[in-house]
Amino acid sequence: MAKDRKLGQPNRDSKNPLSTPVSRRRFLTGAGAAGLAAAASPIAASGTARAATPATPDGTPEQIHLTWGKDPTRSVVISWASAAQATNPRVHLGPDHHFGRTIPAVQRTYTDGLNGQTVFTYHAHVEDLSPDSLHHYMVTADNDSNAAQPFAATFRTAPCGRTPFRWTSFGDLATPVTAWVLSYPQSQFAVQAVERFEPLFHLLNGDLCYANLNPAVQPAVWADFGNNNQASAAFRPWMPCVGNHEIEFNNGTQGFTSYLTRYTLPDNGTEFPGRWYSFRVGSALFISLSADDVIFQDGGAFVGGPAALTPAASTGNPAIEPGTSFYIHGYSAGAQTRWLERTLREASEDEEIDWIIVQMHQDALSSSKTGNGSDLGIRQAWLPLFDRYGVDLVVCGHDHDYERSFPVRGFNHDVGQDVTTGATVDTMQPNPAADAQDSDGSFDTSRGTVHLILGGGGTSAPLDVYGSDPGNGLPQAKIFTKPNRPIPAATAGTFTRLPADALEDAIWSAQRDTGTGYGIAVFDLDPGKDGGKTTITINYYHAPGADKVPNPDYELFETITLAKHRHHRRRR
Ligand SMILES: [Fe+2]
Ligand SMILES: [Fe+2]
Repeated sequence: MAKDRKLGQPNRDSKNPLSTPVSRRRFLTGAGAAGLAAAASPIAASGTARAATPATPDGTPEQIHLTWGKDPTRSVVISWASAAQATNPRVHLGPDHHFGRTIPAVQRTYTDGLNGQTVFTYHAHVEDLSPDSLHHYMVTADNDSNAAQPFAATFRTAPCGRTPFRWTSFGDLATPVTAWVLSYPQSQFAVQAVERFEPLFHLLNGDLCYANLNPAVQPAVWADFGNNNQASAAFRPWMPCVGNHEIEFNNGTQGFTSYLTRYTLPDNGTEFPGRWYSFRVGSALFISLSADDVIFQDGGAFVGGPAALTPAASTGNPAIEPGTSFYIHGYSAGAQTRWLERTLREASEDEEIDWIIVQMHQDALSSSKTGNGSDLGIRQAWLPLFDRYGVDLVVCGHDHDYERSFPVRGFNHDVGQDVTTGATVDTMQPNPAADAQDSDGSFDTSRGTVHLILGGGGTSAPLDVYGSDPGNGLPQAKIFTKPNRPIPAATAGTFTRLPADALEDAIWSAQRDTGTGYGIAVFDLDPGKDGGKTTITINYYHAPGADKVPNPDYELFETITLAKHRHHRRRR
């Protein structure tokens, strides 16, 4: 596959991803949850995974991307990577292309625990910017091979106070390089779509590039991801959350070392930096969570067998035996949920905050049939807090489709069924809030939380087939209510992780896009006027036909409006 690739270098093939279109459905034939589990499992033992030897050991910046700093009106972090150690890595920055300020970058490195490649990343913390203004910057180093004409771009800081702004979102992006498991050229069109809508920033809802499904070459997959994103992420912050495919063997306590080394994210003040965080723009607080901490589903790195996964000898790491999965449920021992409650309480008491938007990877409300479905862990740990403090909107990924819920508040108990025995199971079925839709069609999220599944970034596995009750044809969802740890599979020496164990009527499901698994959501916040209503208009655009052939043309699928009174008292 990538033996001739220069690891850490931009993949030149990605410039023309359409040269080898592949059939989406062909890939997916026969693939349900079991198919994905199979895709997740065959971390085909690579014997001795090849250690990387960068062919061009230079400090040329690549994979350049922005994230918000502590205060999006005044600070950003400019991050990048280079094939080898950079000398004097730095950013030049100013109000125009004459720059004026020089900001040295901090180096962070890690050595991949499977193939032994060392990855060099750089992070320049830019503070004291003017709000709502355009800034020019240039990224370079003394050993930048483009030193005569270094990479240059612009970005915009957030406005202060109650002003309109736009953001976009999707998850599950992958890369355009089809050599990698779950990569697909749509991911390049998805990046272009972000640029087309010119948001202030983009929310990337986990499962960034699926490096953990390509265990012998994880850093190369990350590099292709970073270089694909650069076309947008160098021009506006892309704010990520961790998904199950960021969990990598031998890369840190939760497997997040690659993710955490590459991103600098707002501090959460706990002993788990980077895993979860919040930031505020205008009248909205954005909260990004690490749902693997609370979900029941086991979806991280997994060796299905029959062969073991043997890391490169240079790592000194032992073989990982078949049937091993990296399950991190409960890793923060409640620290994340305590932080979440404190953050929500403070937001609910802040009269300048009208909207609370949560980003996470996995789903509390998904009725995908071919995908993962919903997870009781989120419903138990976090949905009661969303109710208590009035979270307006949750954006997720994980299932590679589009689904929108009605505003939900509270639960119906003991209405689920065990898929095997038919016994009654308490799935905590979310309850659609009464009277949450106004006469003008808008949804009042002070009455309930709207959940959006936005998993249609660009993977090769769309999951836009949804469950229905065979008896009445109404939406039906499957739910993980307990851990699906690996068990022996039919073939001797192999292991599998079973799909969700319970079913419920998806009475909360309001819209499902059966046309394609690919799309992007565009959010326009209007702060409204004193004493009046504030709105968020959501336009979801999808890419019809992309399930078969990658498609750059995103078309409007639906528009909905969330509306509520400003200063609405949240606490119930
Ligand atoms: Fe995914
Ligand atoms: Fe996922």
